[in-house]
Amino acid sequence: MVVSQQRPHAAAAAACLLLGYLCGVLAGPDPRQREALIRLEASMQTGGQLELSDAERQLDALLFKLKREEMARAPFPPAVHFFKARDLIRASPVFSLLQKMPKGGALHVHDFSMVDVEWLVKNATHRPHCYMCSTDNRSIRFIFSSRWPKPLPHCSPWILLENLRAKMLNTTDFDDSIVGNMTLFTDQDPDAVYPSQDVVWDRFEQAFLAVWGLVTYAPVFRDYYYQGLTELYADNVMYLELRALLPEIYELDGSTHDAAWTLKTYQEVTRRFTADHPDFFGARIISTIYRGVNASMMTRAVEKAMELLRDFPDILAGFDMVGREDRGRPLWFFRDVLSLPAERGVTLPFFFHAGETNLQGTDVDQNLLDALLMNTSRIGHGFALLRHPVAKELSRKRGVAVEVCPISNQVLKLVNDLRNHPAAALMSENHPLVISSDDPGMFGASGLSYDFYEAFVGFGGMRSRLGSLKELAMNSIRYSSLTPEQQQVALTLWQRRWDTFVSENAF
Ligand SMILES: *[C@@H]1O[C@H](CO)[C@@H](O)[C@H](O)[C@H]1NC(C)=O
Ligand SMILES: *[C@@H]1O[C@H](CO)[C@@H](O)[C@H](O)[C@H]1NC(C)=O
Ligand SMILES: *[C@@H]1O[C@H](CO)[C@@H](O)[C@H](O)[C@H]1NC(C)=O
Ligand SMILES: *[C@@H]1O[C@H](CO)[C@@H](O)[C@H](O)[C@H]1NC(C)=O
Ligand SMILES: *[C@@H]1O[C@H](CO)[C@@H](O)[C@H](O)[C@H]1NC(C)=O
Ligand SMILES: *[C@@H]1O[C@H](CO)[C@@H](O)[C@H](O)[C@H]1NC(C)=O
Ligand SMILES: [Zn+2]
Repeated sequence: MVVSQQRPHAAAAAACLLLGYLCGVLAGPDPRQREALIRLEASMQTGGQLELSDAERQLDALLFKLKREEMARAPFPPAVHFFKARDLIRASPVFSLLQKMPKGGALHVHDFSMVDVEWLVKNATHRPHCYMCSTDNRSIRFIFSSRWPKPLPHCSPWILLENLRAKMLNTTDFDDSIVGNMTLFTDQDPDAVYPSQDVVWDRFEQAFLAVWGLVTYAPVFRDYYYQGLTELYADNVMYLELRALLPEIYELDGSTHDAAWTLKTYQEVTRRFTADHPDFFGARIISTIYRGVNASMMTRAVEKAMELLRDFPDILAGFDMVGREDRGRPLWFFRDVLSLPAERGVTLPFFFHAGETNLQGTDVDQNLLDALLMNTSRIGHGFALLRHPVAKELSRKRGVAVEVCPISNQVLKLVNDLRNHPAAALMSENHPLVISSDDPGMFGASGLSYDFYEAFVGFGGMRSRLGSLKELAMNSIRYSSLTPEQQQVALTLWQRRWDTFVSENAF
């Protein structure tokens, strides 16, 4: 009883303090003070400071009504694993609206999981000269070759898919089994198929290797990237910052191209795409390397990135490391290598994945502070940020945005119910953040709308409204690697599309 009597008094006292009211004796709670506190909190959240136009307020009212209905749905999609929630989300009017909304840029997406796997199987594996083998542990590998390829260790003899398919009456089941190898998405119970982080990460890595031989074949590489941009564009995303390994790309005769060729090809395909779609703003590349490599490999990668930055300053945005943080080497291990650019007077921007973990207090958990110490421009995931008050404060003060990828965090088992995602707290205080999709192809998603849905309906709750969505979209330009002048152009383009979206949907 003591506690419950003191709480309103404490709130009233807080209101007195915060709002400068003369309160006198602490009587019961004052409804006006309560209202003021509620408004104060609402003004602190993402979008809380934005003034909406009349048309935007109309759309906001509609969205609010739709959201209230959404909240009453059972099962409630954000509380359910995405694999089971996907059909529920597709049927949601809030989701339909989010699909139409101009979402700005996707700032955290990986090169070989950006495209719908169905496309990859239907398009790439149906081309001539495509060979497949099955590994010891029931995964698959591919290669395109003009001659019969040399056998791979731990893999069955190669089979030529055109020959195999020619013998089948119906290739649907076969194609589905290939799709199944290239994505984590499953119709079965995801918690039974992936009981632990270790299991889901193993499958993730196997799926990645299954895709590898297809997407590193030059003709597929170009079409895959073009298709990736097409999927983003179809979802009303206008800009991309792609984390890319820039691997050697091979031709049918086995000859290969180096990283500079790969980067130049990204640039050419991007130019072709923007020429075909003038309201798409463009793309930049963040060069990445697997975080499991040793210091000498990392040195070579950093030096290569500096060289590419010198030769391709328009398309190369910076550098990052990929792979499971919990298993790879922590950033601190590479501190000397990562200081090389600064020592040589080169500005190589970093976009580090950090804090994609729930291993509190480990070396890996330390990555968040170390990323900031090493001047990262953004933080990939930052799932653990709330547990690091100093890192959080630094990130806010320096405007180092957190790239929040809700579906990825759920599928890779950091959080089950997306109402409990830590970004809820970050959004409640307008922490610099953007919403992104990480590996949509792996997760059975596409574009940004699914992740926006989980953010907006899941951890956004009833409080996040049209203003929050508008601010999130603008954040994706504000915290991009574009120059201030480019950001201005992109923002103008975005604003035009936004105004159209509002006027077409506010009624
Ligand atoms: C794959 O996609 C490309 C680009 O859209 C297209 O030109 C090609 O015909 C497709 N190939 C197959 C086998 O579907
Ligand atoms: C599958 O086999 C490969 C190669 O033999 C091995 O590196 C990998 O760890 C295996 N994965 C699993 C899940 O057993
Ligand atoms: C091929 O098999 C699938 C799944 O078994 C089936 O749904 C489909 O109707 C079949 N197609 C033809 C042309 O028989
Ligand atoms: C992967 O492909 C193999 C060979 O086609 C198949 O036996 C296996 O069921 C597939 N795995 C999944 C998860 O679909
Ligand atoms: C680092 O890794 C590479 C590739 O795995 C290997 O060739 C090299 O010997 C390693 N260097 C050291 C110092 O361990
Ligand atoms: C980070 O920035 C500081 C201040 O500009 C600089 O002294 C330091 O070398 C930078 N660190 C890295 C790893 O780039
Ligand atoms: Zn990532």
